[in-house]
Amino acid sequence: MPLVTLNEVLKPAVVGGYAVGAFNCNNMEIVQAIINAAKAEKSPVIIQASQGAIKYAGLEYITALVKVASNCSIPTVLHLDHGTDFNQVMRCLRAGFTSVMIDGSKYPLEENIELTKRVVEIAHAMGATVEGELGRIGGVEDQVRVSEREVLLTDPEEAVRFVEETGIDALAIAIGTAHGVYRGIPKLDFERLETIAKKVDTPIVLHGSSGIPDDDIRKAVQLGIRKINIDTNIRVAFVEANRKALKDNPEEIDPRKILVHSREAATKVIRHKMQVFGCAGKINS
Ligand code: G3H
Ligand code: ZN
Repeated sequence: MPLVTLNEVLKPAVVGGYAVGAFNCNNMEIVQAIINAAKAEKSPVIIQASQGAIKYAGLEYITALVKVASNCSIPTVLHLDHGTDFNQVMRCLRAGFTSVMIDGSKYPLEENIELTKRVVEIAHAMGATVEGELGRIGGVEDQVRVSEREVLLTDPEEAVRFVEETGIDALAIAIGTAHGVYRGIPKLDFERLETIAKKVDTPIVLHGSSGIPDDDIRKAVQLGIRKINIDTNIRVAFVEANRKALKDNPEEIDPRKILVHSREAATKVIRHKMQVFGCAGKINS
């Protein structure tokens, strides 16, 4: 089926009380791993690309790969992750992305609202959806870097104002998760999440979700998280399988015989996440 927007996958998630996985891709094998997992788990899916992924693979390649992947019965969203550059966001919309994130979290509230609102007006006119971010999530996600000192948890009252004034379709919040590999076990501010979820109707997004224990993820979903971003867990599974395949087969010169293991390892990780998020089994065919 044609690519869908966040609304088509997140509205049923709100009604059903589960979260939809948003998985980062960089190349063909990862796109295939994501769609294969969605098919195996009968799950709707969000395939997202960061600005770094677009720089690496090329906008046309990413768009074409995900369009081909969506040529099946899985409701699939093509979403820009952490768009910090207005022009890049516009290029993605023109290329056929059905959803974009505008990450204005580094700006003061007023400026973040202004920028996000501008993107919402254009994206909505083009039939696409928008995710905004309020608060500041720690760690490194490709081109977005936030040190521990700069982390800012989302203020619930500001979240109400941000959602109302911007008209976004999904809200990314900071409740203690971080991008990249965790050094210890992260402590999430569930109370803050609960307060925000009670005040805000817009689906809430959890970033930096790799490495969060499954039970904490389940609790976050119970409290109102409806989109969950996973990147690092896929990268690690992909590269570790690659390393092992190279080590086990030092004479192998066929890239396919190495990459097939990476693709399978990524699929396995993604399938598990879909089960934990509750989106597994949510489509009929
Ligand atoms: O935007 C992408 C996600 O927040 C990824 O975070 O690398 O910790 O899974 P992660
Ligand atoms: Zn993120």
